[in-house]
Amino acid sequence: MWKNYHMPETVDHVIDLLSQAGSQTKIIAGGTDLMVEIRDGKWQTLEDVIDITRVRDLDAIYQDGDGLVHIQANVTHNDVLRSELIRQTASPLYQACYRVSSPQLRNRATVVGNLVTASPANDTIPPLMAMDASLVLVSKRGERQVRLNEFYPGLRKTAKQPDELVREIVFKPLKTSQKGSFIKQALRKTQAIATLNCCVILDMQDDLIVDAVVTMGSVAPTVIHALGAEEFLRGKLLSAETARRASELAALDTRPITDVRGGADYRQYMMQVIVEDALMELVENRQDEKVPINPVTLSQGAGWRAVPDGEWDQAHIETTINGQTLQFAGDFKGTLLNFVRERVGYSGSKPGCEEGECGACTMYLDGKAVVSCLVPAPRAHMANITTIEGLAEEGQLHPVQTEFINHGAVQCGYCTPGFVMAAAKMMEEKPHPSEDEIKDAISGNLCRCTGYYKIIQAIEAACQNGGGAL
Ligand SMILES: Cc1cc2nc3c(=O)[nH]c(=O)nc-3n(C[C@H](O)[C@H](O)[C@H](O)COP(=O)(O)OP(=O)(O)OC[C@H]3O[C@@H](n4cnc5c(N)ncnc54)[C@H](O)[C@@H]3O)c2cc1C
Ligand code: FES
Ligand code: FES
Repeated sequence: MWKNYHMPETVDHVIDLLSQAGSQTKIIAGGTDLMVEIRDGKWQTLEDVIDITRVRDLDAIYQDGDGLVHIQANVTHNDVLRSELIRQTASPLYQACYRVSSPQLRNRATVVGNLVTASPANDTIPPLMAMDASLVLVSKRGERQVRLNEFYPGLRKTAKQPDELVREIVFKPLKTSQKGSFIKQALRKTQAIATLNCCVILDMQDDLIVDAVVTMGSVAPTVIHALGAEEFLRGKLLSAETARRASELAALDTRPITDVRGGADYRQYMMQVIVEDALMELVENRQDEKVPINPVTLSQGAGWRAVPDGEWDQAHIETTINGQTLQFAGDFKGTLLNFVRERVGYSGSKPGCEEGECGACTMYLDGKAVVSCLVPAPRAHMANITTIEGLAEEGQLHPVQTEFINHGAVQCGYCTPGFVMAAAKMMEEKPHPSEDEIKDAISGNLCRCTGYYKIIQAIEAACQNGGGAL
């Protein structure tokens, strides 16, 4: 774990802290990558962690006077999915964010964090690279912009210096003549890192392709362009035949490796398949159909965020849990899950995988369902937290709890608190969900014994009988 945990409120304060930073200082945003790395022992001698989620004016998506779109550092994947601006101006990014993990994880994981982690499998890199986005990096030395296309010198390496904060992503919106598709291939539909992903953006004049960009993930040490396919597509008529030939050329540009998610030959072949699929979506104009408008996010809109006063005394946590404001003193070096279970004494949230995969630890943090095993404990300070113990009101079980009992949607019960929390939050957001929305809402929760039919039936019944709002 870390020695010191900082929660600055301004960008200037972050930059100040970074200017004194050594190699053992890390920024933390959503923590969905960093907390896993800490848990896996990658950061044994971490000195300082700088939590930027309390920084004011760092969570906006907006279009400036010149028409450029900005995504600031604390914008999460779910913020993108709530943004009409992104859906209209950067549809491939919207499509990609929908495919990142689960609603709980997307409530914390930031788009900037996804870019800085620099895995060639990360989902937002291909669309943002295809849109030629830039990153704005700030430090005591000033501000600079780096094109994402020049940000990755090698495997998991970036052009960011240790004293730099990525303040925002900036890009031109797609023109009305442009359309784009993002496709991800993974071992399952949600909660899976990409075996492969790709993004195709075409600039069209009627059926003629005026310009083409094809980016491919997980087939080289960094996300790469399919240069042969891009060149071939320019000046061609968009058709099934063109799609087939371009996808063959795209596969030739891959340099995949074999790993646990797929063999090199499989990856090369499947890249051809998904590039052709992406192009065929554009041929038939159905690229946006695969992502719902206004998908389940398991949060109440933007939620709210309490800001601590001045420099935080890291030996002190004041927090509101299940409606009670509580004070704690001591050393807070673990996860929110452990803090709530061991210090606060609410043991309903369960440690399952402890790496964001199973949802058994789901709690609400400032109105959003999150996987608490990946939230640092200090983030509880000045936060509003609800656990499964806080769901029943005045002795009345929540309708989801009642229907889980009525439908026998529980066997060993280990996963149940997580499912109930996800479903109850969905009911706040979507009192009358479709079956697909229910499945989306629990896509971040795993059950190894009951099976999912009874769980879905229980949630459907709760929605019919319980009527939404808590
Ligand atoms: C269970 C699970 C499933 C996942 N599924 C997917 C998936 O389907 N697709 C996918 O692409 N990814 C996936 N991920 C990876 C991860 O969730 C994303 O990469 C996420 O977007 C990272 O954002 P974060 O805010 O959590 O980053 P953090 O963990 O907070 O930070 C990641 C890195 O970026 C640095 N950093 C963060 N913000 C800044 C900043 N503003 N300036 C400078 N440096 C910064 C941090 O120091 C750290 O090195 C998954 C992770 C888990 C645990
Ligand atoms: S997701 Fe937190 S314990 Fe599994
Ligand atoms: S009821 Fe046992 S894991 Fe779900």
